[in-house]
Amino acid sequence: MPTSWTTLVLPSLLFGAGAVAVADPATVAGSYAANVKVLRNGIYPLDVVDEIEVATRPKVEAFLAKKVAAGTNNNCTLANAAVRREWSDLSVAEREEYVKAVQCLMKLPARAPKDKFPGAISRFDDFVAYHMTHAMELHDNYHLFPAHKHFVWVYEKALRDECGYKGYQPYMNYDRYARDPINSPMFNGNSSSMGGNGEPDPNYKGVAQPGRTPNIIASGGGGGCVKSGPFSDMVVSLGPTSMASYRNLPKNPRADGTGANPRCLRRDINRNAAMGATADHAYKLLTQSKDINTFYNTLLGSPVPKGDPYPWGIHTAGHYIHAVDPGGDAATSPGDPVFYFHHGALDRLWWLWQMQDPDNRLNAVPMVGNVGHGGHGGMKAKRQGRVTDPTKMQIDLAWLTDKPIPLMEAHDQLGSNGGQYCYIYI
Ligand SMILES: *[C@@H]1O[C@H](CO)[C@@H](O)[C@H](O)[C@H]1NC(C)=O
Ligand SMILES: *[C@@H]1O[C@H](CO)[C@@H](O)[C@H](O)[C@H]1NC(C)=O
Repeated sequence: MPTSWTTLVLPSLLFGAGAVAVADPATVAGSYAANVKVLRNGIYPLDVVDEIEVATRPKVEAFLAKKVAAGTNNNCTLANAAVRREWSDLSVAEREEYVKAVQCLMKLPARAPKDKFPGAISRFDDFVAYHMTHAMELHDNYHLFPAHKHFVWVYEKALRDECGYKGYQPYMNYDRYARDPINSPMFNGNSSSMGGNGEPDPNYKGVAQPGRTPNIIASGGGGGCVKSGPFSDMVVSLGPTSMASYRNLPKNPRADGTGANPRCLRRDINRNAAMGATADHAYKLLTQSKDINTFYNTLLGSPVPKGDPYPWGIHTAGHYIHAVDPGGDAATSPGDPVFYFHHGALDRLWWLWQMQDPDNRLNAVPMVGNVGHGGHGGMKAKRQGRVTDPTKMQIDLAWLTDKPIPLMEAHDQLGSNGGQYCYIYI
């Protein structure tokens, strides 16, 4: 754990009124020294998960030093690693640059096959189209973590290569916003937010959670069209699908949701969901998951947490912070750009868990052998051709990338995937 917290006060205008940027002492002395610029928004004190992140830095350095010594780091060093930061730790200008890049992706032409996806109207939709038709390839027990790591990385690359974005994919620290998400820097609807809440829709009741108590993530009062912020004019086209958690939506001309169905972005920015992803939940997940199966199942809310008023599991909680359409449709959820903040956050948690004991955890695969049998919280793996061994499997994002990558390459973000992955989370 860090011993002292001397703070450097940087110009407050970087972060907007009332905020001060602080550089944490790790940039001054100790781990990551001189290699990584750690900027934080002083409004938010470090939470228990941030403290784990700081305490994990020497382990990350040791892990990378070993790779350098073995010549397997593919030129990735801490000095050149990308740094993925929390949304509020970006300056207001940086947040607006990110928003602009996403809006740019929404204007570029789609590459997904037109006959199969007449509803894909943009490059942004390419990712939605893949997600809605490749559930197993992204979500079975072997693929959930690594395939989403790759999916988010490919999205980040599109923002950078095709839309001139200079930064990296931000993540969402749920704990910062859980108690009042509607007025948070993510959802307050101003120009540096990811858009506002939806208008009230009295028909929207929330998201059913059968088998849990309570058995519904009750509506946070939204559910209608988003009318404020950068995505208030966004056109949602793909979906809804049979996985939609809200039924009162314009029907897609195709039964599978792949047709063009232009409509508004709808949201219910939901405190009841967010409270299931607070730092105490993540802290328990990180410190009490002795093996990958426990980590995987806990993240997915299995077994059902007892005595917790928000017993969803962090994965579910994070998705329904921005529920309704398409955020509340498990198939088309990347159609709300906040998806990438959530899966960035999950990727961060997985990485922090791995880095506690890289020798044993880096390549740990959840529910090994769980092919064709029932899983706990998640989806059981499917054979890829005749292959059931995760070390022989691939991640194939079809039209999103030029070629598949080996599944296990996406277990490591420091020099893996031929050196193309080289990033850390702060
Ligand atoms: C938007 O809201 C955030 C969070 O309260 C604030 O930091 C920022 O200054 C606000 N204004 C603009 C123009 O982004
Ligand atoms: C590493 O850097 C060297 C020197 O710039 C270059 O020749 C080599 O191709 C790089 N290797 C990878 C895997 O990027």
